[in-house]
Amino acid sequence: MQREIESQAQPREGAVPGEECLQSRSADQTRALGARLAARLRPGDVVAFTGDLGTGKTCMIQGLCAALEVTDPVNSPTFVLINEYVGRWPEPGAGGAGEAVTVYHFDLYRLAGSGELLDIGADEIMNGDGLSLVEWADRGAEVLPWPRWEVSLSHAGQNSRDIRCRYLTQPDGGDHRGE
Ligand SMILES: Nc1ncnc2c1ncn2[C@@H]1O[C@H](COP(=O)(O)OP(=O)(O)O)[C@@H](O)[C@H]1O
Ligand SMILES: [Mg+2]
Repeated sequence: MQREIESQAQPREGAVPGEECLQSRSADQTRALGARLAARLRPGDVVAFTGDLGTGKTCMIQGLCAALEVTDPVNSPTFVLINEYVGRWPEPGAGGAGEAVTVYHFDLYRLAGSGELLDIGADEIMNGDGLSLVEWADRGAEVLPWPRWEVSLSHAGQNSRDIRCRYLTQPDGGDHRGE
């Protein structure tokens, strides 16, 4: 079941697994969805983004980071694996509204193996108090901790994207959608 992004305003599900399936019809809508997700995040959260090239992972992260008042340009850190930004938790974020947050933006497209991820300290980062946003998360899935957000994007037309957002405590844990 898909709903338009405009009509979607869900409270954080906390540790209870939840899911939203949305259709975005423009890059702006995808950025707005990123901003909406930002309001539900907490310190230490990990968001795993999956989806083919051009489905809007970076676009959604740009909207998310804008909502966190990140002023640095947000682009896929394709050649460096990770970019680091400084942002601020929005009100009424329970991260402590207005408090600074370090945002780690990973892009694992070119990841050679999970060893490379461990070498750059990803394990510590993702288990720390910052916010980890991971593009091509499936390429480093075994290093990403639980619980985590999983956002999967897919093409649904030239400017349309299907976006599924879930908060999972474990692999497919408690996710009884009857698919
Ligand atoms: N509904 C949409 N959501 C996100 N991006 C869209 C959408 N419609 C068109 N686009 C375009 O698709 C591209 C997505 O690129 P990007 O966010 O870099 O993808 P990814 O990081 O997944 O490779 C952008 O050029 C964006 O303008
Ligand atoms: Mg990208």
